[in-house]
Amino acid sequence: MKDLWYKRAIICCLDVGTFMDTNGDGVGDFAGVTKRLDYLAGLGVTCLWLLPCYPAPNYDNGYDVMDYYGIDPRHGTLGDFVEFMHQARERGMRVILDLVVNHTSSKHPWFQRARSDEKSPYRDFYVWSKQKPEVNLPVLLPGEQKSIWTHDRKAEAYYLHRFYKQQPDLNISNPEVRDEICKVMGFWLELGVSGFRVDAAPYLIEQTGVDAPGTVDPYGYLKEFRDFLSWRRGDAILLAEANVELAALPEYFGDGDRLQMLFNFVLNQHLFLALVRQEAAPLIVGLLQPPTIPETAQWANFLRNHDELTLDKLSQPQCETIFQAFAPQERMQIYGRGVRRRLAPLLDGDPRRLRLAYSLLLTLPGTPVLYYGDEIGMGDDLAQEGRTSVRTAMQWSDESNGGFSTAPKNRLVRPVISGGDFGYERVNVASQQRDPESLLNWMEKAIRVRKGCPEFGSGKLSIVETGDAAVFAHCSAWQGRVVAAVHNLSDTPREVSLDLRSFGENHVVDLLGDRECEPLDGGRTWVKLEGYGYRWFRIGSTWA
Ligand code: NOJ
Ligand code: CA
Repeated sequence: MKDLWYKRAIICCLDVGTFMDTNGDGVGDFAGVTKRLDYLAGLGVTCLWLLPCYPAPNYDNGYDVMDYYGIDPRHGTLGDFVEFMHQARERGMRVILDLVVNHTSSKHPWFQRARSDEKSPYRDFYVWSKQKPEVNLPVLLPGEQKSIWTHDRKAEAYYLHRFYKQQPDLNISNPEVRDEICKVMGFWLELGVSGFRVDAAPYLIEQTGVDAPGTVDPYGYLKEFRDFLSWRRGDAILLAEANVELAALPEYFGDGDRLQMLFNFVLNQHLFLALVRQEAAPLIVGLLQPPTIPETAQWANFLRNHDELTLDKLSQPQCETIFQAFAPQERMQIYGRGVRRRLAPLLDGDPRRLRLAYSLLLTLPGTPVLYYGDEIGMGDDLAQEGRTSVRTAMQWSDESNGGFSTAPKNRLVRPVISGGDFGYERVNVASQQRDPESLLNWMEKAIRVRKGCPEFGSGKLSIVETGDAAVFAHCSAWQGRVVAAVHNLSDTPREVSLDLRSFGENHVVDLLGDRECEPLDGGRTWVKLEGYGYRWFRIGSTWA
């Protein structure tokens, strides 16, 4: 029997540096995350995804790694990491790490050797060109990056960098580079991690700038990494960031022999369109457009993350619609097609809309991935540059610095949001724990119920006709059991009748339990919904 734990998981992404500082130096540390593991376990998180925590110059929030075998000293020691892993395991919590191997930092010793000596074995670890290459693909970070090729004075050549120039791309076609990547995975697997979030997967396997492009199948590299991973640890997973064209998505999963999980960017973007338009139709497109995936594969669903909300899979008018509603000022936008805001401010802090969005996240097929702080509805700081706006420190209490750190304000790694609707004085864990009506307490309950319904994450999806353009209903069937959810995307109350007979016996149990079940009417179920309301049901005579 396969134990596909990642299909039942509740994943939470956090940045060690902004989560909890225990030694008062203004930077979050492993001791801090360890201290807060009970909070995360209480929320129902079963798997932590840590943003890069390796030694790095931090030009790109840790995505510029200088040493793959260490911990950024600002976060503690390798010993602190191992202690954290032990404590996480004690609580039944898994950990996955960001695997940032499309590029290294330009300060990585490999790059330093590569650029200083043409004869160095490390020279071929990177992608070089003596002349400025004619193929100059568009930059990924417009406004922050000029080109994908930069001239290096020492090397007397141009090097490829898909992201910032401080992040030279590794040459994946070099078998020694692939061996190094496996060694890095092997190291952290020995320390107990359950897999990796594969950063920038499409660029990792691309052939741009390497010799003889087209002679290898780049997706074969994914199988190579998967094989290595699975031989070392059978239940470890690779969760990739691959915001690619629909047609390319199946290549990342293979026959279940490449990556186990991919973020569902298509669903993410269409979900926001559905929220703006207050219509179910875009959501249905977002659910039906992605390909069917192998039995062992899984989508990772998310609302927001540490990057911008990318709208590249929508049409220009659709993108404009979202901008108008959610990012009307230019300073809220980034890279032409992105929104640099957190979820709560984007939804005007409206608790009904926040719960609706999370209710969708928790019931749509796939595994939910939360972003730290969103469970209490944290805000963003648009005074911060670029994507840093959504990477502010965790707000634990109304004590100074939001309880994140005892350091003087000017020593904090990032300012804590203070004042206004989203400041730590109003939005913090401690006060929400005391308030039975808070978003945090709602999230804890919703996650608990979702965990009791693995059908939502793993089941076969059926979209149910509601007769109302604003109401989205779906059923998920798995191992002979069926659950359903109904969401009202509009701000006005609705009542719909659903024909659920084909899904099981004529008995419908309300899972969130805030009201009695509606009587059956000739086999149809009547469902009343408040504006932005949602209901979860189990269909059948037992709910066990
Ligand atoms: C994707 C990460 O999520 C982003 O934050 C980073 O800048 C790029 N990859 C480059 O590593
Ligand atoms: Ca610290």
